Amino acid sequence: MSGPTIEELEALKSALTAEIESAADGAALEAVRVSALGKKGSVSGLMKSLGGMDPEMRKEMGPRLNSLKNDIAALIEGKTAALADAELDTRLAKERVDVTLPVTPEAQGSIHPVSQVIEEMTAIFADMGFSIAEGPDIEDDFHNFTALNFPPAHPARDMHDTFFLTQDGQVQASGAGAGNEPPKVLRTHTSPVQIRHMMTHKPPIRIIVPGRTFRCDSDQTHTPMFHQIEGLVIDTETHMGHLKGCLVEFIKAYFEVDDLNYRFRPHYFPFTEPSAEMDIGYSVEDGNISIGTGEKFMEILGCGMVHPNVLKNCGLDPDTYQGFAFGLGVDRMAMLKYGIPDLRPFFEADMRWLKHYGFRPLDLPTLVGGIAR
Ligand code: PHE
Repeated sequence: MSGPTIEELEALKSALTAEIESAADGAALEAVRVSALGKKGSVSGLMKSLGGMDPEMRKEMGPRLNSLKNDIAALIEGKTAALADAELDTRLAKERVDVTLPVTPEAQGSIHPVSQVIEEMTAIFADMGFSIAEGPDIEDDFHNFTALNFPPAHPARDMHDTFFLTQDGQVQASGAGAGNEPPKVLRTHTSPVQIRHMMTHKPPIRIIVPGRTFRCDSDQTHTPMFHQIEGLVIDTETHMGHLKGCLVEFIKAYFEVDDLNYRFRPHYFPFTEPSAEMDIGYSVEDGNISIGTGEKFMEILGCGMVHPNVLKNCGLDPDTYQGFAFGLGVDRMAMLKYGIPDLRPFFEADMRWLKHYGFRPLDLPTLVGGIAR
């Protein structure tokens, strides 16, 4: 039997090479492999025919067919690697992430003026060594009034336009719920946290208490819910001079003014003695309020030396400890600093208002970086 001619082998080789090269994916390549090197493949068939050749012929054809088989196998192997490379390349191109792109083009949302102002005040007081304390919005009569030296049935309790809670937790604007227990209240000021803190911490005490407070009141400058910051300092040698220095420094830092006209005007709070209100100077230029100097005065906060009865109510000996306390309205401080004329929209969640008066979320106020925007 005669074998295939050299031309026939060349033709087969170039046909298979072309098929291998044009295989578009692994499956097509596998089909070519089976058609050539598989059990019934063209190359395998030729290999089998070696057995029927005469010895001379076999000697000549054996190496030729072998190298054809090896060449085709090598081509397939090369193509397999090339296909795998190409597949990896397309995947890499498709899954490409540009790490140099900004995470979000612009910060979304803004910080509410109340949050901003609390951050500002916290930065200033933290620098003076104050830490933050908190208490519940729903208070009992003891912490909100009695322990703060409000005498029973004293008109000062009515002064606060208190929201009382009925036995089943409903809010009502006039006193005495059912039962023998005095009704719970929505705290009318942050001062009850003074009591909670003094009863659980040993002096020296230096805290501020930012938080929500509630009074039954609503007009351009009053809302039923508003915010206060309370301050409390208790130590063995604390006096009125410390109170004055602390508050004057605070107001200067908060409004970022070097010159401040101020006065401490005698006042009455049941829980401080003596008590005072602090007034600061301002002037009005082109309808804008400018804080600091000026002939006019506005009331800005309440303060005083902690009443001995309050210290006693908290288990502290007034002969050893004294201190001062102050309380100021956060919302009003925001209105004054940022020229916001009406308090009510603070709590209306109007996106246009928030966009206009809100603050950039990543600008945290610090004494070194700047308190205002
Ligand atoms: N709690 C007082 C108020 O709400 C403010 C205040 C606090 C006054 C601390 C003196 C000392 O009016």
